[in-house]
Amino acid sequence: MLEKTLAILLAAILVSANPLVDRAAPMAVVYEACTVNNTVALTFDDGPYLYMTYISDLLTQNNAKGTFFVNGNNYNCIYNDDVVASLRYTFLAGHQIASHTWSHPHLKSLNVTRITREFELVDSALESILGIHTDFLRPPYGEYNALVREIAYKESKKLIIWDFDSGDSVGEAYRQSETDYDAKIAQNPKTLLALNHETEEDTAHYLVAYVINALQTAGYKLVTVAECLGLEPYASNTGTFGTRDDTWACPRR
Ligand SMILES: *[C@@H]1O[C@H](CO)[C@@H](O)[C@H](O)[C@H]1NC(C)=O
Ligand SMILES: *[C@@H]1O[C@H](CO)[C@@H](O)[C@H](O)[C@H]1NC(C)=O
Ligand SMILES: [Zn+2]
Repeated sequence: MLEKTLAILLAAILVSANPLVDRAAPMAVVYEACTVNNTVALTFDDGPYLYMTYISDLLTQNNAKGTFFVNGNNYNCIYNDDVVASLRYTFLAGHQIASHTWSHPHLKSLNVTRITREFELVDSALESILGIHTDFLRPPYGEYNALVREIAYKESKKLIIWDFDSGDSVGEAYRQSETDYDAKIAQNPKTLLALNHETEEDTAHYLVAYVINALQTAGYKLVTVAECLGLEPYASNTGTFGTRDDTWACPRR
């Protein structure tokens, strides 16, 4: 009994003397799964590229919503005229637009300044193009560390990972991705937070229609990431699109 009391006392002293415990900076919440039963969030990373409006239409035609985690300057420049148009079209169709960083780096290898810049450049683009402020961010490759989470917290971000990977960005044939989805659905999960890529032609032209049908047939509701978590899609939404000026340019790394 005495030993136990001493052990607890010692532990208490050690904890209070440990600056790492005392001064731990607050960190952004990390979500790896949806929380609202019976929902599926289909997410599409790495755009804006060529297939955003096509996927947006497919979802809309099937009474489904999706989420696009977009970069500022990856496959395309977010400020290009055609990209601005497809972002606005997809946003107005009710799909969620969120951040995937400016240039798709490995965030764990960057310092405070670079990480902050990766977040803020996309935020500023989405503010001027769509009039929204997003608080949802998917770190590239799903990679983050304590520093990334601390900065994300300061920037009012939630980090969104996934619990199912379609495999479409690592060279998997779309037929294999379909089989993977079928196997996952057969496990009867309560929810699904699924990773796909807007930049893959086969995803846009074959996989999306297939999985919408498979998931809806199994009784799932296809919603945005915000809705599958019971959260608001945007920290703010002015309802006004900005006007192009000479800051709408991409050599900004
Ligand atoms: C979700 O489903 C689980 C198990 O089926 C149940 O225990 C839980 O109460 C449900 N949650 C809600 C919010 O309906
Ligand atoms: C952060 O990294 C960049 C690029 O590697 C470097 O130029 C800059 O000096 C670094 N900043 C700090 C504060 O260390
Ligand atoms: Zn990515």
